[in-house]
Amino acid sequence: MRIILIGPPGAGKGTQAAAIKGKYEVAHISTGDMLRENVSAGTELGLEAKGFMDAGSLVPDELIINMMRGRLSQPDAAGGFMLDGFPRTVTQAEALDELMDEMSLALDAVVLLDVPDETVVGRLSSRRVCSSCGAIYNTKAHPTKAEGICDVCSGGVIQRDDDKEDVIRNRLAVYHSKTAPLVEYYDKTGRLHRVGAAGAGDAVRRYLESLKDVK
Ligand code: AP5
Repeated sequence: MRIILIGPPGAGKGTQAAAIKGKYEVAHISTGDMLRENVSAGTELGLEAKGFMDAGSLVPDELIINMMRGRLSQPDAAGGFMLDGFPRTVTQAEALDELMDEMSLALDAVVLLDVPDETVVGRLSSRRVCSSCGAIYNTKAHPTKAEGICDVCSGGVIQRDDDKEDVIRNRLAVYHSKTAPLVEYYDKTGRLHRVGAAGAGDAVRRYLESLKDVK
């Protein structure tokens, strides 16, 4: 399976990808996670990306496309992938289509996780993530068993720098102006699936798992 998850920040892309990656046995590729790893490691890409990420703006297309060109050619992506956070602009979507053509691959589905803005603000301001393994929590909907400690690896659980309300609002504005046009881009080619993702995550997971049967 080759799937793209799109949707506003906080739609649950990372949560759902983590929940279903076992079912599909494909690589979960999150551009946000890749960029944060580069920032932590102090790479040239990380240094260039950090200012954009802290402000809730998009990292320039050229940097992202180069990063993804390398990532999609890694052996673990050969058996399929689930993209989370890429593409995020029409330019990135066109570059992905070209890359897939070069690799003689086709996308199976693009899934839009639909969530209203106010739900996003509530979810992201209460999101916490493990600084060690990246597991995603929520102080309201999915707290850790012991406060501040990851259930999976016992690492420290923190709030992301871009989960402050003013930055969340900017990320939403960027989503509506730069990423929402992808809905039409993929709808035109019949590849788009829409799923309401404001409610419980189980229904979304079941929908994503059912895509395997329509392949
Ligand atoms: P990135 O990390 O991709 O952030 P994002 O798209 O804003 O997505 P999030 O990770 O915030 O949300 P999510 O949908 O994964 O939600 P989650 O599952 O965590 O990107 C960060 C930055 O990197 C960008 O701002 C940009 O600067 C840069 N970047 C990345 N990719 C780029 C690209 N392609 N081009 C340019 N720049 C790029 O869930 C959120 C919270 O809600 C959690 O607490 C979770 O527990 C909770 N939750 C999830 N589902 C439910 C539910 N059903 N009910 C209740 N709570 C729920």
